Amino acid sequence: MDTVIVLSYIASAVLFIFGLKMMSRASTAVRGNLLSALGMGIAVVATLVDRQILAYHWILIGIVIGTIIGAITAVRVPMTSMPEFVALFNGSGGIASLFVGWVEYHNHFGAYEGFTGATAVPLIATYLAVLIGGVTFTGSVTAYAKLAEKINSRPFLFGGQQVVTGLLLALTLASGVLFLIDPNSTLAYAALMGVVGLSLVLGVMVTIPIGGADMPVVISLLNSYSGLAGCAAGFVIGNTVLIVSGSLVGASGIVLTNIMCKAMNRSLANVLFSGFGSAAAATGHGKGAQGEVKPITAEDAYYVLEAASSVVIVPGYGLAVAQAQHIVHELGTILEHNGTEVKYAIHPVAGRMPGHMNVLLAEANVPYEQLVEMDAINPTMATVDVAIVIGANDVVNPAAREDKISPIYGMPIINVDHARTVFVLKRSMASGFAGIENPLFYKENTRMLFGDAKKSVTLLVEQFKTA
Ligand code: TAP
Repeated sequence: MDTVIVLSYIASAVLFIFGLKMMSRASTAVRGNLLSALGMGIAVVATLVDRQILAYHWILIGIVIGTIIGAITAVRVPMTSMPEFVALFNGSGGIASLFVGWVEYHNHFGAYEGFTGATAVPLIATYLAVLIGGVTFTGSVTAYAKLAEKINSRPFLFGGQQVVTGLLLALTLASGVLFLIDPNSTLAYAALMGVVGLSLVLGVMVTIPIGGADMPVVISLLNSYSGLAGCAAGFVIGNTVLIVSGSLVGASGIVLTNIMCKAMNRSLANVLFSGFGSAAAATGHGKGAQGEVKPITAEDAYYVLEAASSVVIVPGYGLAVAQAQHIVHELGTILEHNGTEVKYAIHPVAGRMPGHMNVLLAEANVPYEQLVEMDAINPTMATVDVAIVIGANDVVNPAAREDKISPIYGMPIINVDHARTVFVLKRSMASGFAGIENPLFYKENTRMLFGDAKKSVTLLVEQFKTA
């Protein structure tokens, strides 16, 4: 039986690795996801038939509760709320690892031979599972609250914040030393409970100062933490498949964090520790945007589009809110039939989760070859007749280039303002996630097509159909 379980775990690990590799290309991503799910299915069944399990009733209760929560979430949560729910699921992974570490320690309390060569790995892993798991849990809940706009998404800062966080970190490390010195003592148990409490506070403290445009970095970092906590939990209970899957999530989260940092043109240390741009972010401004806003009707926009030989569509979070992806693809197809070259420009942090725009456009069957990344589209922008910005704001905000005191100064953007004409489709003059004004709306070549994105694009499509 043991051999069957070990072989099943190896099969799961192989499926995870191939699944992850396939997810790096849009054309193979769906199959990669299915392959990984199969791997997870095998791992769950192998774990359930493992003879270490003494009784199934608690497991069954857990499965029933988890299934009910999962089913209700899947049915009721709208696609636009997916990013914050992914944050919550990350947090669930964190708290699960914390409990695994705590329960394993509790069960073996008094039976350790002290901190020896044999106990070092499980004890250090217990400490890390509790610490990283706790930070992941409250960090993810804070990220959820920011993304769901239950709390203000701007950075929350107070005097001496870095000192307080540093002190908490020092206390967490000291508690770890106390825990490891004599793991059988009551003091060690108390120290581990201290780590539980401190890690939960630390999770909030490291997430609240980060806000606005920097949230993508935090989300991918928390994703990575949930994997590392799972990996530590795997070492605690000696489960190889948990170690492998945890390290895969941890490593891919780090790679994603690096990509997000590059997308923001910031170092990780700068995002985490500097509170950069926070004074301006707190007021919601850099320099006040000035000029005249020029609204346009769908009919007038149609005449410009009809004559355009190249159009770049720039989607943002508002596209997801309006669920306009299908009608946008229809508009793109009509423009192509009209002889216009059409491309979709994707900013790496557009929307609210990594790959958000790619997923939406893929759902509407927009051909993958028409999707162009920011770095590739920007050099061509000056030759583009019309840039249609659909529900994007921060990712096309020229303040990132022009306004040194803007909270997003230095963040690479899609330079839509370099196109001959820019249409911005949004409902009002409201700001985006970073909470800052956008001078694009006042530029000479910008026309604002106000209204819900789906309605506005539908009006444009109707103009083409009735012409
Ligand atoms: P945002 O800057 O958030 O702007 C979205 C715009 O969509 C808003 O200004 C809003 O204006 C408009 N909108 C909302 N509903 C709409 C509707 N039904 N029809 C038309 N327009 C609508 O979006 P973005 O440009 O995609 O930038 C993303 C931001 O989120 C960045 O700051 C990024 O750092 C942050 N963020 C990203 C992630 C990831 S990983 N992608 C994660 C967390 C945070 P109106 O209200 O006037 O319509």
